[in-house]
Amino acid sequence: MSDIAEIKIGGQTFEFPVITGTEGEKAIDISKLRDLTGYVTLDSGFKNTGSTKSAITFLDGELGVLKYRGYAIEELAEKSSFLEVTYLLIYGKLPTQSELDNFQNTISRHTLIHEDMKKFLDGYPSKSHPMAQLASLVCSLSTFYPESLKANSSKEELDLTMIKLLAKFPTIVSFIYKKSLGHPLIYPKNKYDYVTNFIHMIFGQRTEEVEIDPVVVNAMNTLLILHADHEQNCSSSTVRIVGSSDCNIYASVSAGISALWGPLHGGANQAVIEMLELIKADGGDTEKWINKAKDKNDPFRMMGFGHRVYKNFDPRAKIIKKACDDVLNKLGINDPVLEIAKKLEEAALSDPYFIDRKLYPNVDFYSGIIYRALGFPTDMFTVLFALGRLPGWIAQWKEMHENNEPIGRPRQIYVGDVDQKFVPINER
Ligand code: SDX
Repeated sequence: MSDIAEIKIGGQTFEFPVITGTEGEKAIDISKLRDLTGYVTLDSGFKNTGSTKSAITFLDGELGVLKYRGYAIEELAEKSSFLEVTYLLIYGKLPTQSELDNFQNTISRHTLIHEDMKKFLDGYPSKSHPMAQLASLVCSLSTFYPESLKANSSKEELDLTMIKLLAKFPTIVSFIYKKSLGHPLIYPKNKYDYVTNFIHMIFGQRTEEVEIDPVVVNAMNTLLILHADHEQNCSSSTVRIVGSSDCNIYASVSAGISALWGPLHGGANQAVIEMLELIKADGGDTEKWINKAKDKNDPFRMMGFGHRVYKNFDPRAKIIKKACDDVLNKLGINDPVLEIAKKLEEAALSDPYFIDRKLYPNVDFYSGIIYRALGFPTDMFTVLFALGRLPGWIAQWKEMHENNEPIGRPRQIYVGDVDQKFVPINER
């Protein structure tokens, strides 16, 4: 197949290079399109537009394939740890034991946040959404580390800033959670590994040493690995475009947190549980709600179903569905909404509306059921998604800078009024 694409405009033929990725994907490089033709492309939602060349994550939506740095998600979820996958995503290779130990030890030295950060927590209304708090607290980290604001930071300074962000994020998440309960804040204990430390801060008590359940730690490792990166999704693209203005990584990740919050994106895991609870309260009539999801005049959508890229099963959903059964069995929990979820999935996957549109359960469909089984409240679910996605955001931001990519600034087609004459207000 030719490595050239031709576009015919007004009887003239223009040639553009075709790019082939290492997994065989094809793209037409139109970076010279406007210079050569005066035309721009239009692609609302960027459904057909590549924004960059990346070596971090590959996914094939038709085949339901997801790989981090070439490693299959199924293998990483089963055999790796979240911290090891974090290292893989950010530095591009699996660490040796000494590299991983050094990574963990370096992170352990930065897990505390400045005590003045707690004053922000006191200022939020008691029931304010944790994602609003997380976005603002992560951006506020930049106020305590002004050296991170330098656009031309050295590699060592940038590396340290990424370590600080990785180290402090779980502490911020746990402080938000404990504050929401009115419980004393639990500080990090550096004898624990990254995920165990998080579980300690979330479920720990000031008065006694709480035994940390390995089932919970293992489930959290799996969930965080599955959420760690997903190529140019809405929030990662946000982190890249904010970072492309030479904005510091704290503010760039804060913008990614805000993008993830939306119910069409990471906020779907909260919306799924709210949907399942609604169906349960309504008597569990899954057929009725599937018909509502199919009805164009009904705003109801089957949350946790469908995906911009996956037109087959989301491989993460398969792994989470199995983990769901394991965790609930091991914890001895019988959650009625799990049965409703399975009934919905079964009914939807045999319904032509969902089959024709290739709507399958995505990563958010079952994750909330596990988070709930682990004891998290619904409005913390997307915060947990953000904790998992943090290494992906950092890796994408780092790659964008290392590739010296230009500031992101899409074009548009103007369709507004033309040649308007100003009329003074007293004559309108
Ligand atoms: C995540 O991009 C990523 O990688 C994201 C993510 C990640 O790891 O970063 O994977 C995480 O965000 C997963 C998605 C979580 N969101 C939800 O579960 C919300 C419910 N799903 C959707 O709203 C929707 O499926 C999207 C937003 C996920 C994808 O939307 P698209 O690609 O823009 O597709 P679309 O809205 O154009 O839908 C195509 C058709 C439409 O019907 P027609 O107009 O063609 O008749 O499918 C229908 C839609 O109405 N449809 C749904 C539906 N999702 C799509 N109908 C009912 N229920 C749904 N959930």
